Amino acid sequence: MKTKTDFFRMKQAGEPIVMVTAYDFPSAKLAEQAGVDMILVGDSLGMVVLGYDSTIPVTVDDMIHHTKAARRGAPNTFIVTDMPFMSYHASKEEALQNARRIMQQSGANAVKVEGADEVVDMIAALTKAGVPVVAHLGLTPQSVGVLGGYKVQGKDAEGAKKLLADAKECERAGAIALVLECVPKQLGAAMAQELHIPVIGIGAGAEVDGQVLVYHDLLGYGVSRVPKFVKQYASIQETIVEALANYVADVKLRQFPEPAQTFTMKEEEWVALYG
Ligand code: KIV
Ligand code: NA
Repeated sequence: MKTKTDFFRMKQAGEPIVMVTAYDFPSAKLAEQAGVDMILVGDSLGMVVLGYDSTIPVTVDDMIHHTKAARRGAPNTFIVTDMPFMSYHASKEEALQNARRIMQQSGANAVKVEGADEVVDMIAALTKAGVPVVAHLGLTPQSVGVLGGYKVQGKDAEGAKKLLADAKECERAGAIALVLECVPKQLGAAMAQELHIPVIGIGAGAEVDGQVLVYHDLLGYGVSRVPKFVKQYASIQETIVEALANYVADVKLRQFPEPAQTFTMKEEEWVALYG
């Protein structure tokens, strides 16, 4: 399994780090098989697989449940698990307690937290306790209500300056990597240059140290609209719906099951039963 040391070396060598989300056994298994460097059990699972309209309702228990399944699917891949909404804000004690549960019960290798300012102290406390922390800046979906929607962040000089300062504080507090979401490419490039830790972008341009995408977005799996920063590598929902519709039609027309999917009793047993 790759570790923090490998990710730092990859940044230095200019080798892009590939991260994808996964929320269960099959998705993690296929991600590992495809050769991703890191898996993110993101709280996007709230929207993508639980059907909520934001990440706000996701709980620590949800994150543990899904991370356990992902870990069973990808035993050899570094897994980062999101700490969900308000699970690292009330107090250091609560943040430590929630991180302890995630690390001990789920098989995660690191946790991810959104934001800077007060969250920087939590990054420091978690790091001191031995919990590797990935920071997340730019568009931070847990703050969607405060941000006023899902939009590009750090578009003006002032906003970009604040994000750069925030990122440096997260790094100083001990973050092992930064996820940078939905910012202009110039800011992405500047972040990757100014930080020692790897910057994993999502909608942050090509000149960062790695990329992350949501599994279902890139596969076209149960999603209708995707953000501009997503490249769809497949549309497996079409394949799935077509297969399911064929199954429905076959059953209705009694064309399934066929002999190949059917068990048969020996003739004499049948005769013994019904004469
Ligand atoms: O929850 C998630 O999937 C994320 C990524 C979008 C970075 O945080
Ligand atoms: Na997230």
